[in-house]
Amino acid sequence: VSDMLVDSFGRMHTYLRISLTERCNLRCQYCMPAEGVELTPNSKLLSRNEIIRLANIFVASGVNKIRLTGGEPTIRSDIEDICSQLSGLKGLKTLAMTTNGLVLTRKLPKLKESGLNSINISLDTLVPAKFEFMTRRKGHNKVLESIDAAVDLGFRPVKVNCVVIRGVNDEEICDFVELTRDKPINVRFIEFMPFDGNVWSSKKLVSYAEMMDRVQRQQFNSIKRLKDHPTDTAKNFMIDGHCGTVSFITSMTENFCAGCNRIRLLADGNFKVCLFGPSEVSLRDPLRAGIDDLGLKEIIGAAIKRKKAAHAGMFDIAKTSNRPMIHIGG
Ligand code: GTP
Ligand code: 5AD
Ligand code: SF4
Repeated sequence: VSDMLVDSFGRMHTYLRISLTERCNLRCQYCMPAEGVELTPNSKLLSRNEIIRLANIFVASGVNKIRLTGGEPTIRSDIEDICSQLSGLKGLKTLAMTTNGLVLTRKLPKLKESGLNSINISLDTLVPAKFEFMTRRKGHNKVLESIDAAVDLGFRPVKVNCVVIRGVNDEEICDFVELTRDKPINVRFIEFMPFDGNVWSSKKLVSYAEMMDRVQRQQFNSIKRLKDHPTDTAKNFMIDGHCGTVSFITSMTENFCAGCNRIRLLADGNFKVCLFGPSEVSLRDPLRAGIDDLGLKEIIGAAIKRKKAAHAGMFDIAKTSNRPMIHIGG
């Protein structure tokens, strides 16, 4: 293990998020504009071998957790092979995926056999018509089924990601909390974040404080804070008598950057050291020009050393250019 993954604030980056595709089978409003996004030509996307070569370097340097994202990672046709190869990397403890759950009931058993051991599923509403509005597609039932399928296959906890948007799904917070009564799931309420093309406004943001107030006042006053891991994105809570748990991801009102251990490899081979901001460096280009592992490590290490303390060093992330979320994968 070298110091390649340590930034100038002493943060060790052990968690690599790999976006496997820019495509998705949904069109969520908070993630992409209605007209879609410009897609990188296939020849400029990382191949499976290129992903594995880069992942190998990261894991050999101290990464112990990889999360597969997208776009929607399950629509990549070689997803099972990718999982098998990544899960075989020595030193990797967690192979995780964040998915919209649309085709998961079909794919999850094989993914589990291929070494996937942690899953987060996005679900923003319990109302079918609202699902169609938010995602611009059908499939609500399939997502609900996939959450149960993940539970049945033994994933613990199954994390359910709910992006809360005022006037859209903010009246459903307590219904989501109610789901944790009998299911071993972790429902995570996420503050709506600005990205290119997602028409964010501060009026649509429901803060952690407001969400918590609603949970406590409307129904669940026994809610208690749990101890969080210092690198966790979420503040975690339990409610008396519930088998699942509830969390809040407070990127906007209480950032958790001080404990950040995350770095990102995008589908086009760009390396991104913070979710926010425009700063990226290509690993694909030097890789295709024949660079050796040492050279790649120098590029990666230098980018990490330039990482800022919080929010990419931006005072107002709503006014800072970035990519659309569908390219970044969260
Ligand atoms: P775990 O690994 O299970 O803790 O999941 P995670 O929260 O790291 O990842 P997930 O893909 O489930 O993302 C949940 C929410 O957290 C999404 O809204 C992400 O955009 C957000 N998120 C993930 N990583 C970061 C990060 O490094 N910074 C910020 N600000 N938000 C993040
Ligand atoms: N704000 C907050 N979370 C978002 N996600 C996608 N777009 C946004 C946004 N604008 C979430 C998805 C998914 C995770 C990867 O990021 O719901 O669960
Ligand atoms: Fe890390 Fe940037 Fe996310 Fe903050 S905003 S937690 S620094 S990736």
